[in-house]
Order: sequence, then structure tokens, then C-alpha cells
Amino acid sequence: MNIGHIPLTNNLFVAPMAGVTDRPFRQWCKRLGAGYAVSEMVTSRRELWTSLKTSRRANHDGEVEPIAVQIAGTDPLMMAEAAAYNIDRGAQIIDINMGCPAKKVCNVWAGSALMQNEPLALAIISAVVAACEPHRVPVTLKMRTGWCHDERNALVLARAAESAGIAMVTVHGRTREQGYRGFAEYDTIAAVKAALRIPVVANGDIDSPEKAREVLRYTGADALMIGRAAQGRPWIFREIAHFLATGEHLPATPVAQARQWLLEHLLDHYSLYGERAGVRTARKHIGWAVRSLPGGEAFRTDMNQLETCEDQIRAVGDFLGELAERHALWPAIAPGSAPEHDASTAPTSCDVPIAAANHASIRLTA
Ligand SMILES: Cc1cc2nc3c(=O)[nH]c(=O)nc-3n(C[C@H](O)[C@H](O)[C@H](O)COP(=O)(O)O)c2cc1C
Repeated sequence: MNIGHIPLTNNLFVAPMAGVTDRPFRQWCKRLGAGYAVSEMVTSRRELWTSLKTSRRANHDGEVEPIAVQIAGTDPLMMAEAAAYNIDRGAQIIDINMGCPAKKVCNVWAGSALMQNEPLALAIISAVVAACEPHRVPVTLKMRTGWCHDERNALVLARAAESAGIAMVTVHGRTREQGYRGFAEYDTIAAVKAALRIPVVANGDIDSPEKAREVLRYTGADALMIGRAAQGRPWIFREIAHFLATGEHLPATPVAQARQWLLEHLLDHYSLYGERAGVRTARKHIGWAVRSLPGGEAFRTDMNQLETCEDQIRAVGDFLGELAERHALWPAIAPGSAPEHDASTAPTSCDVPIAAANHASIRLTA
């Protein structure tokens, strides 16, 4: 499939997850079967672009193309500037975040809250598309099914977005009000897919090859986006790809192979963050990876006390090396076992200031 004129290797996407999908993690997923990955959201606040956090988020060194950057904000002009800024730094696709249930900042909600103000959402879309068009950079949109159960306007917004020049829409099958609670529903995604000509991506609670096949079939979506189930287990992409292609399960991953992948990811992770931040931010990735393993919880507690890259990498290597002697294969995926949304790694805000955003709940006519 393509996003605009840009071809992808397959239709299995890594979901953008702030604090998780940094460049090393995206690379890891792409290496293990993901056809596309979107960066963590980058704020539209110009004064934060030079901050260490934002510049790490905008790091694409050696990244497998296409490079897609998600931007978040509530002011059309600032969003257009953020798009142009990221294009200058290598972005080939710009994704607009209307999917993240971020906190209120400066009295205005960002992310999925924009779905409650359709004119503002459309003004942002139009401004970003206009900024990207001269560079031939496709603009995509990630949204939820709506603001709340009774106001599921994904279809209205998706149609308007397509008319405004959006090249692909991703729908997470929850409302903003739901946060990460309850279950994703796929009827709204199916309705969006049926109405649009551009590619539509289904997202939410896809955590196994069977679920992937079911969601594809039910929604008719062009692609799937997977978030939490890839945490600590990015080889889920190759497992799903194989199952979709053959109807058969890929043989379970040898522990020795997973050990090697994890260690390589850690080295890449340290190279982006350095020792102090690297050791701390790697803990969550290690914790996710070992959570389903015998002795994983106790290991995680001990590993969290380590302060150097050398100690951390040795501990992970030893733990998995000893495990490999007793258990040849990594445990299979138990559907529904993906990590819960973890507030400690979730975005606390979209870091967006509010210029003149009018936050009244104005609606477009369908
Ligand atoms: C830790 C975390 C951070 C997230 N950050 C973002 C983000 O920056 N932008 C965004 O559009 N969605 C964000 N999301 C939502 C995911 O992209 C995805 O829509 C959601 O997790 C549902 O997919 P899943 O059930 O496969 O995890 C985040 C989710 C998690 C768990």
C-alpha cells in the first residue's frame, strides 16, 4: 500500500506512543516486520523545538524510510510551522495527532479533544496540508471514534479530512472519554473505511495474529496499527505478517534469538539517550519484555536498581542466557495480555499552548 505517493513494505504499522516509539524502538519494530512507524508526537510549540526531549523525538539518524513525524497542537498556523520544521529535518510524512487523550494545557484540550471542535480540527488539517503540499509530503490524520459514546463523529471528520487533502486516516476504536478503558469497537472504523477512498487504518486492542485477521476482515481496513502489544515484543509484527500471509503460526521465537534482539535494541537505545537517561528509559522496555517470563517480575525489581549501561546489559544478557538453558522458546502471545496503558510512560500533555483556540463544541453538518 501507499501513503500518497510513498510506498510501504506492508500494512502493519507501529502506533505512535509518546515515551516509547523513539527512533531505536521504531527501528526495532521495522526490522522485525513492521512496514511503517510514526514517531512520538512533536509539539507545535516553537520554543520547545530545541529542548533535549523534542530534539530526541525528532532524531531520525539511520531510520528506515519513510520517516513519519506526528505533530500535536491546537493552533493552525503553529501546526503548519511545525510541519514545515519537521520536513526540513527529514520528515517525509506528517501525521496530525487527534488521537491522544492528552491533558488539558493552558485551558484547552489537544489531541483527540480537537474532535469536539470540528471547524478548528479542519482549520488545522487545511493549514498543515497547505504547508506540506509544496514539498510533496502527504499528511495523515490519527483520531479516535469521537469525543464520547454519544458523539462519535469520526465518520464526519474523516470525510471532511479526505476532502481537505488528507492522504490516510487512522482510527483508534475508542472515544476520547474512554481513555484506554473498555474495549475498542470496530463498527465505526468499518463505517469510515466504507466511506473513504483514501487508505484507512484500524487501531485498538490488536494483540495477536488471530485478532489482526479478525479486525482486518471486520473493518475492511487497508492496514492495522499496533501499539501496546508491541511493547517488549516487537516480533509480533513478523508473527502477524506470517499468519496473515499463510494462515499458519510462525514457530515460537527462540529465547536466545529474543535475547540477541533485546541486547541490540538496548545498545541502540543507549546511543540515543546516553548512559544516565538511557539506563532509566530502558527499564520500561526491559520490564515489558520480561513480564511474561518465569522469574521476570523479580528480575525487573532487581534490574531497576542498576545505574550503568554495562550493569544493565550484563543483567539482561545473564537473565535471558540462563533462561534459554531451561526454556528454548519465548512464550506464545496470550490474547488480551498486552500491557495496560501505563500512566508512567503515557504522555502527560501534548505540550501545546493555546493561542486563539475557540473551544466551543461546534459541529459540522454531516
Ligand atoms: C504509552 C502510550 C503513549 C501514546 N502516545 C500517543 C501519541 O503520542 N500519539 C497518538 O496519536 N497516540 C498515542 N497513543 C495511542 C496509541 O497510538 C494507540 O492509538 C493506542 O494505544 C491503541 O492501540 P493499542 O490498543 O494497539 O495499544 C499512546 C498510547 C500509549 C499506550
